[in-house]
Amino acid sequence: MELKTIKIEARKEIKRAKNLKELDELFKKYLSKKGEIAQIFKSLKNLSERERKELGRKANSAKREIEEMIRKKSKELQEKLRKQKIEKEKIDVTRPGKKFTTGHLHPLTLVQREVLEIFKSMGFSVVLGPELETEWYNFDALNIPKDHPARDMWDTFWLQGNQKIPNPKSQIPNKSQKNLRLSAEQTNLKSERLLLRTHTSPVQVRYMEKHNPPLRIVVPGRCFRHEATDASHEIQFYQLEGLMVDENVSAANFRAIIEEFLRRFFKQNIEICLRPSYFPFTEPSFEIDIRREKKGKWTELLGAGMVHPKVFEAAGLNPKEWQGFAFGVGLDRLAMLRYKVNDIRLFYSGDLRFLKQF
Ligand code: DAH
Repeated sequence: MELKTIKIEARKEIKRAKNLKELDELFKKYLSKKGEIAQIFKSLKNLSERERKELGRKANSAKREIEEMIRKKSKELQEKLRKQKIEKEKIDVTRPGKKFTTGHLHPLTLVQREVLEIFKSMGFSVVLGPELETEWYNFDALNIPKDHPARDMWDTFWLQGNQKIPNPKSQIPNKSQKNLRLSAEQTNLKSERLLLRTHTSPVQVRYMEKHNPPLRIVVPGRCFRHEATDASHEIQFYQLEGLMVDENVSAANFRAIIEEFLRRFFKQNIEICLRPSYFPFTEPSFEIDIRREKKGKWTELLGAGMVHPKVFEAAGLNPKEWQGFAFGVGLDRLAMLRYKVNDIRLFYSGDLRFLKQF
């Protein structure tokens, strides 16, 4: 190419370059070692001194011109790029934010935590037991032998097959002179079938096997019943078991504790009524009804009683030396009263319209 044409072409092409990559190509085309300008310099050796000087000077100035054009164009393109980037990254600070939802505790969890706090403040320890229980702990140890009609009160889900469960043995040696604990032979009963526990009462026995009185525990946990569901029955629900054992624990102590609990939970004075009732693992047994307003309706709330001697025996404790009370209250029941929920099934429905209200 002639120098003149080179200049014209370069100007045209540089002007047209759309991006830095294209510009770079043009730099190579005109200014690199093998580029158009370099070709001109190479051709100088064939010229006369005068022509060489003349063309050399022109080529040099063309080179500078092209360099300058590329430099300018490069700046221009970079500026364009920067503007595009800013445009893309622009944020509209006036746009409404995205609302993100956080989870929260389930009403049953809320109630359970609150109930545990109250009992802890009264010196009770929180103890847990297995949801998958043996027939022994769920029934026999609680004085509900096979074929006893009371078993009908707790229809449950049995697991297939028979599991070999070692017979629970008294694990704490007698320390004092008194015969506070029965020997392993005296508690030699067993049962091997597995089931989903129908109540939290089995934990009474599990705990007393391993701990000497005096003791004060509460046991929250999920229970199961094989029954048709309706507004007040579910196949699963939560209970809280209470147990207090010492040498002289009486029904009066029970009444005082439960009244204090109810007063704190409902944050008002509660009238309670102990009705005689029957549970195989307590003697005597009561049903506790509560009333929140004078002349209001009595609501049945929990079962309780004095621990049956057979239960102490099953746990390896000498019933002649110990006495205590036990109670079982439905946490769902408490939650329904607290939040005015009229259908227990709502707690397990996973329905967000319900859950979002807590
Ligand atoms: N376990 C009983 C039930 O589920 C409730 C109960 C009643 C527990 C009396 C107790 C008690 O500890 O003394 O129906």
